[in-house]
Parts: sequence; structure tokens; C-alpha cells
Amino acid sequence: MPIKTIIEPFRIKSVEPIRWTTREQRMELLRQAHYNLFLLPADDVLIDLLTDSGTGAMSTHQWAAVMEGDESYAGSRSFERFRRSIQNVFGYKHVIPTHQGRAAERILFGVTCKKGDVVPNNTHFDTTRANVEFTGAEAVDLLVPEGRQPALAHPFKGNMDVAGLEKLIGRVGRERIPLVMLTVTNNSGGGQPVSMENARRVSEVCRRSGIPLYFDAARFAENAWFIKVREKGYESKTPKEIAGEMFALGDGCTMSAKKDGLANIGGFLCTNNDLLAQQEKDLLILTEGYPTYGGLAGRDLEAIAVGIQEALEEDYLRYRISSIAYLGNHIASQGVPIVQPPGGHAIYLDARAFLPHLPQEQFPGVALAAELYLEGGVRSVEIGSLMFGPAAQMELVRLAIPRRVYTQSHIDYLVEVILEVWKNRERIRGLRLTYQAPFLRHFTARLEPID
Ligand code: F0G
Repeated sequence: MPIKTIIEPFRIKSVEPIRWTTREQRMELLRQAHYNLFLLPADDVLIDLLTDSGTGAMSTHQWAAVMEGDESYAGSRSFERFRRSIQNVFGYKHVIPTHQGRAAERILFGVTCKKGDVVPNNTHFDTTRANVEFTGAEAVDLLVPEGRQPALAHPFKGNMDVAGLEKLIGRVGRERIPLVMLTVTNNSGGGQPVSMENARRVSEVCRRSGIPLYFDAARFAENAWFIKVREKGYESKTPKEIAGEMFALGDGCTMSAKKDGLANIGGFLCTNNDLLAQQEKDLLILTEGYPTYGGLAGRDLEAIAVGIQEALEEDYLRYRISSIAYLGNHIASQGVPIVQPPGGHAIYLDARAFLPHLPQEQFPGVALAAELYLEGGVRSVEIGSLMFGPAAQMELVRLAIPRRVYTQSHIDYLVEVILEVWKNRERIRGLRLTYQAPFLRHFTARLEPID
């Protein structure tokens, strides 16, 4: 019999205790946090799946590299290592460091977009959309229809609707589209990958129309792994070769190194366009810093330089994707509705199907996230009506798995907690808003249970 047990492809050298609370304490903590898990002190969370962003564990190689950090203001050795490592994987001519992904977005869209422009994406992440809209441009999501059906299993639900893209270009004219973006993997759509074939077709449309193609590369390594195991012709290619092939289809990228950079902070912006790179660097100096550090310490640049390479290691990717699939498949086999198939960085519970007795205006996703905390001290995040308002297409609860942080026994614990909540789902009550901010309200909203 082949051995099936999933084990971590690493040993643990440094540990961080996590803290138990009682159900009564959690009941009170939830009340104090106004049923919004963003407002909980992290110390009161046992397993924190709020995000996979900046929450990963660094390797011994990364920590060693941190000590090599060159903190020179200009022309540091660390920047050279950072640039070389990124070019080695991404292949773009200019590499501009930023303090995180959204800073890269702000600079890219700030330089390329203006009022009246339109930016297509398979699905904009919320900061990406906000940064496009901040310039006065319109952010348009062009996801394939399969991507909007949570229960449907399809290997590449992150794909862009290519016919829709051609139609959009025909309708608004290519001069109003400064760039097209592909988000790999598609975070807002369930962590679903984009196929190489789809990226190639999008790239062809872009080239034909003279529109640059950019990647939102936050989870590029996980996307490459899915291509390796799901797309014909890629079985024997390495994740690094696959990533390189995909990036060669575009003209640049934005990157949050807090995901597949395996770092706790950082990001970058890449482009092949000399003129654009100059404008971007000028803007960078204004808000982020000199172009050889861009708001990061030399040690951060070092951690990213190593992390980018480690994120592409096959043992790591195989383990990570199997462990997340294990979580998804175990709960789904007991009837729990999840976005199928399990994604690259997270499991998304379909709160609408989980709690059919709660109407959209009672925030089923927020109610489910609160219940998971109450049951097991698990923090997740709603991606639904609280985040997007009444326009939300789905009511999802994301359980994002930090990289190299939790072990398989934590995953087994999660399975138990979710199944317990599933068993008692009919008792879960809806919530109503008592406070909301004018934008990005999910971070600070306050709610209360409806009797
Ligand atoms: N693009 C995608 C696809 C993302 O998921 C994120 C962040 C960003 C861009 C922005 O990067 O946080 O470094 O500024 N996603 C985090 C999340 C916050 O929880 O999914 P950032």
C-alpha cells in the first residue's frame, strides 16, 4: 500500500504557543468584537485563518538571509539579490520594490489609468479594484461563468472570459483600456487557478489589440502547481518553468510578497516598459522610498529573494495543496458546501448553502464565521455581503491557510470544528449592522444578533 499520510516537508525549529479560551469567554469576546472577527485581539484566537497574507513562517535560509541584510539607503547588495531572484523567476526587465502589493497597484494604476478608462481582470481583489477606481477608471470583472458556481468542480475556475474580453474591447475601444490584468490564483473567486491556455489566449487578444497584459502574481506558485497537475503537457515541467512561461505572456506584474513571496511584508512591481518604469520609480520615491528599497528594509528584500524561490519547491507545493484539499474533501464528504474544487490557499465555505434559513441581509457569512470562532476559536473571514454590499455574488467564508504555520493535526482539528458547526447549523441566527464606515466597511463594521 502506498503511504498516504500527509506530512510537513520540514522540521520545526522555533515554536509559538497558541492560547485556548473557553466557550463562555469566546461568547463574551464575540460580543465585545461586535461579531466582527477583525475586531478580535489575535491572542484570543486559537487558529487564525483570517488571511494567508504576511502570516507565513520563514525558513532557516530566510532567517540566515535576514542577517545578510544590507541596509544601505541606495544601491544595496540586498536589492541586487532581490532583483536577481525575481528576474530569475519572472523574467521582467524592471523590478521595483514596494512595501506590499497594494502599493504596487497604486503606483501601476496611478501611472497608467485615468478617468474614463476601463481595466478588465478575471476578478479584481478588493484593494486592486479600489486602486483602479481611485484613479477614476472602471474595474471590470470578466470571470468565466463556471467560476461563479460554487458547487461546480472545474479545473480552472479562475479563467478569464476571453470572448467577454474581446467584446469589452470592441465596445469601449482599446484606447480606453490601459492594461488587462490576470489574477493568479483568483483570490476573490475561491483561490481558483488560471490555466496556461487561458493566459495564452488572453495574451493573444491583448497583443492583437496593443494592450499590455499584467499579472497580479500574489499566488503565482500555487497557480503554477495547479497547471502542473491539471493541465495537459505540463506534468513534467517544474513549477518554476511553468511560472516563467506564464509571465513571458505578459508585460509586467504586481506582487504581494506576503503570499507566495513567503515573507511577512513586502511586494514589487515589474514591467518591461522603460518609460513606465521611470514614471513608476518617480512616484515610488514620493511615497515608498528610493527605488532600491521601496519602503522595505534590506533584510525584507533578502527574505523575499529567498522566499520567491522556496515557494516554487515541489515538495512544499505538493504538501500545501494536498493539505488544503484534505481539509476541503473531508468536510465536503460530510455534506458541507464548499467552493469546489478546493483552492490553492484556502477553503471557502458557501454560507448561502450552509445557512439557507438566513437571507442575504442577515449576513449569513458573518454569522457562520462568528459560529466557527465560538465553536473552536477559529478565525475566518466573510467574503460576501458585508465585504461587497448587496452586489455580492456569493456569500463565502474563507479559511485561508498561512504558509508552513499549522500542521496536519491543526487541519484535523479544523475538520472537527467545522463538522460540529455543520451539525448544529439550524440554530445559527442572523446578524444586523449597527455601524458601518463609508468604504471598506467589513474591517470595522459592528453587528448584533437578530432575536
Ligand atoms: N492581490 C491579491 C490577489 C491579493 O489577495 C492581495 C491581498 C493583494 C493583491 C494586495 O496585497 O495585501 O500585500 O497589499 N490579499 C490579502 C488577503 C490581504 O487576505 O487575501 P497586499
